[in-house]
Amino acid sequence: MNQRPRRNRKSEAIRAMVEETTVSQRDLIFPLFLIEGKSQKTGISSMPGIFRLSVDLMLKEIEECLNLGLRAFDIFPAVEDKWKDNTATKSYDPDFFYLKALKEIKKRFPEACIMTDVAMDPYSSDGHDGLVKDGKILNDETLEILGRMALAQAETGIDVLGPSDMMDGRIGYIRKVLDTNGFAEVSIMSYTAKYASGFYNPFRDALDSAPKFGDKKTYQMNPANRREALIEATLDTAEGADFLMVKPAMAYLDIIRLIRDNSSLPVAAYNVSGEYSMIKAAAQNGWLDGDRVMKETLLSIKRAGADVILTYFAKEFAASTNRY
Ligand code: PBG
Repeated sequence: MNQRPRRNRKSEAIRAMVEETTVSQRDLIFPLFLIEGKSQKTGISSMPGIFRLSVDLMLKEIEECLNLGLRAFDIFPAVEDKWKDNTATKSYDPDFFYLKALKEIKKRFPEACIMTDVAMDPYSSDGHDGLVKDGKILNDETLEILGRMALAQAETGIDVLGPSDMMDGRIGYIRKVLDTNGFAEVSIMSYTAKYASGFYNPFRDALDSAPKFGDKKTYQMNPANRREALIEATLDTAEGADFLMVKPAMAYLDIIRLIRDNSSLPVAAYNVSGEYSMIKAAAQNGWLDGDRVMKETLLSIKRAGADVILTYFAKEFAASTNRY
């Protein structure tokens, strides 16, 4: 035999030299759930190890994460029912706890990269990402609300906006609102290929944001479709996105690779709540080695072509690895 591939696997030193992909803290964004109040910390039964935190505790959490080498955080608000209405009014009220907390977080940690979510669902009494009329999700009327929300978030000083709503034309609309109001430096990480997935349920538990009727299939993509991801990517690129995101990640590695091979923009992948919970549950049962499978999963997402991974494992990964 002239070729013996096992020669390149014979020692740890050689294996390390020929390693093609690595994951580091620098690649990761840690999603965090914010609640109103002080000294509040509540568990999410479907997401072991993840908590909703009030801003004082979130500042501590971010500080710990920064010390572990994590630098990017995506902050989502868990909104009480009494603040929800059908036009998501609280999403652009500068006195609302989410926007006030973002300001405080940026002020305390200017070096951290703070990302926000642009979509109506956490603030909507309908639990949908867009305005609802007669059971339908309105597109263009929703853009106006998303624009206000994006501007209000930009005004807090955050670094990256994450439009997760999947309305048509929202990247261009938001880019224009930002630019005409002096926020040309605020980035947009577009949820470009966001699929109507069963893997979001634990997240909806965390935010109590499940749709009150129907599903999200008229705006999120059909899991059966691949080419359609390229249509979305082309539009988001033309409209001014700085990053293209694929979501979920594990069941959509082919889509990550597709976007990677067809765009020069950085590609992000969202390793979503259900993907996290599935691994946690198996590890808690002793069926899988949780630490090993976490690392293998993140590696597979990088190998598929993602530059950036949003993952609930971020802190655990950072705490258990010295790769930086
Ligand atoms: C809301 C939003 C969702 C997620 C991120 N932003 C849920 C949804 O679309 O219903 C899911 C994240 C996760 O499951 O971890 N627009």
